[in-house]
Amino acid sequence: MEKIIEESKQGESLVLEQKPENTKKLFIESYGCQMNFSDSEIVASILHGQGYNTTQNLEDADLVLVNTCSIRDKAEQTVRKRLEKYNAVKSINPGMKVGVLGCMAERLKAKFLEEEKIVDLVVGPDAYKDLPNLLAEVEEGRDAINVILSKEETYGDISPVRLNSNGVTAFVSITRGCDNMCTFCVVPFTRGRERSRDPQSIMDEIADLHSKNFKEITLLGQNVDSYLWYGGGLKKDYEKATDMQKATAVDFAQLLDMAATTYPKMRFRFSTSNPQDMHDDVLYVIAKHHNVCKYIHLPVQSGSTRILKEMNRQHTREEYMALIDKIRAIIPNCAISQDMITGFPTETEQDHQDTLSLMQYVNYDYGFMFAYSERPGTSAARKLEDDIPEATKKRRLAEIVALQRQLSLNCTEAFVGQVVEVLIEKESHRSDQHWSGRNSQNTVAVFPKEHYKPGDFVLVRIDSCTSATLIGEAIGFSEMN
Ligand code: SAH
Ligand code: F3S
Repeated sequence: MEKIIEESKQGESLVLEQKPENTKKLFIESYGCQMNFSDSEIVASILHGQGYNTTQNLEDADLVLVNTCSIRDKAEQTVRKRLEKYNAVKSINPGMKVGVLGCMAERLKAKFLEEEKIVDLVVGPDAYKDLPNLLAEVEEGRDAINVILSKEETYGDISPVRLNSNGVTAFVSITRGCDNMCTFCVVPFTRGRERSRDPQSIMDEIADLHSKNFKEITLLGQNVDSYLWYGGGLKKDYEKATDMQKATAVDFAQLLDMAATTYPKMRFRFSTSNPQDMHDDVLYVIAKHHNVCKYIHLPVQSGSTRILKEMNRQHTREEYMALIDKIRAIIPNCAISQDMITGFPTETEQDHQDTLSLMQYVNYDYGFMFAYSERPGTSAARKLEDDIPEATKKRRLAEIVALQRQLSLNCTEAFVGQVVEVLIEKESHRSDQHWSGRNSQNTVAVFPKEHYKPGDFVLVRIDSCTSATLIGEAIGFSEMN
């Protein structure tokens, strides 16, 4: 697995505001997508009410929870290694209990309890509200498991505790699950069917973040453009909704418009979009509001129509290109990023060339690129032989990564000489004299601190760049303050 820019920090332990009356200690860490990090905030919030404060120290923990990812084999191997580490710690802290959350819990179910003796508790992504009951069983010395997937659960009524927060940016989840059934992907099996969260509870969460001075919200889901609230229930059951429910339904464009209009001094992002669900009305909402970031993460996976069909993606190469043209016409300064998979079964050299030429066509700002990893139980695993040699997958991956680096540099160079609006998030990794933040297009910018502080929207003149970072100097506050 390779990528051009850093994903959210992997396996980071989380810090939580503490309740003095809580006596038990929870160590919780997350792997994988932003949704897992967001779910861990929900879990920590539930356990906060059960007598647990968090600790950064594995050796002190009464309970260790690991929120896991199944997307590629390597992600699962990383978690298995962590379990070995917990095992070692258990010899000096024998009372410690270990629970597995998230996608691996859902995929492996009771097998986890059999295969990994260290594990006492297995909880799938829709069962976190059952944690108090499950923990009661564990405390009595029994293993406990709940991996039931839900039609309704969105955790809309749980106010997540912001863990490891910079106090400026936050994630708000708006949908759960995925109905797309891409043939390579394990997510529909581990996270269940798609459902949307009540817009009122989303707006309440944003109001709370606004009152705490947060400045940027990322609306989160496996497929946010497919968001549809019609009173609850699965997306696939929308057809069965009453006329009244349909008349008052809220879609993604409306939700985004509502959030951006209500909070003009907060900035909004969203992730992830699926090309088949990206409709014009969303593009117009992005174009209309200064505070909706001009950035779309638009995974395509391959530039070959034949491979897209094998992947069960619902569009051709040409339809994707037409969507890109439309985005460029409606939102001229929009950044676009990709996810790509190399070495999907049957991928030929020509298919790979099609991917490279599509990348050139789009001129992606950046991307997340992966070698195909066969996932047990998926339709690709059942029907197609994993027939591309590892070395070929790796070579093709290296080629698309190298091309993306070049494209990213084109994109960052285009900002040199311009003034961009940056929301300051934190100190730069490289220098304690510089702030780091992102512009609307999601490109990182660093500049001398002067009198500015995290949470300020600042106009920055860009003087130079690398393929991933803009370097410049602040010239004043922007009107977003
Ligand atoms: N819609 C989702 C996509 C989740 S998976 C979202 O919220 O981001 C993220 C990316 O992992 C996918 O876009 C795909 O590029 C990659 N991926 C998924 N399954 C994979 C597999 N079996 N092998 C390699 N990469 C995979
Ligand atoms: Fe996976 Fe495709 Fe959904 S990549 S998360 S099945 S959109």
